Amino acid sequence: MPKLLVTTRSGEERAIDATSGLSVMENIRDNGVDELQALCGGCCSCATCHVHIDSAFVDKLPPMSDDENDLLDSSDHRDVTSRLGCQIQMSDALDGLKVTVAQED
Ligand code: FES
Repeated sequence: MPKLLVTTRSGEERAIDATSGLSVMENIRDNGVDELQALCGGCCSCATCHVHIDSAFVDKLPPMSDDENDLLDSSDHRDVTSRLGCQIQMSDALDGLKVTVAQED
């Protein structure tokens, strides 16, 4: 079971025993962190699952789709570490993944 380390907007750190095959967003939401609204339910159309990825993991993630890229452009808080949590599936290869919930737009 891969670990997912989450820093909330208030700076609280949470270690989650993540479920492989579920997205980062689903793992965060299903483990009691209610800051990710995930309004579209994970179909890449809302950007309320915006997270910042620890730089050590950025290269381990699947490439970003054009839709994800366009949605992230709508955020004032986008930077080079930005991804949508619903577009990243957890797996053993991502054990120890660190993400920080992005500030709300
Ligand atoms: S949950 Fe809507 S884009 Fe990720």
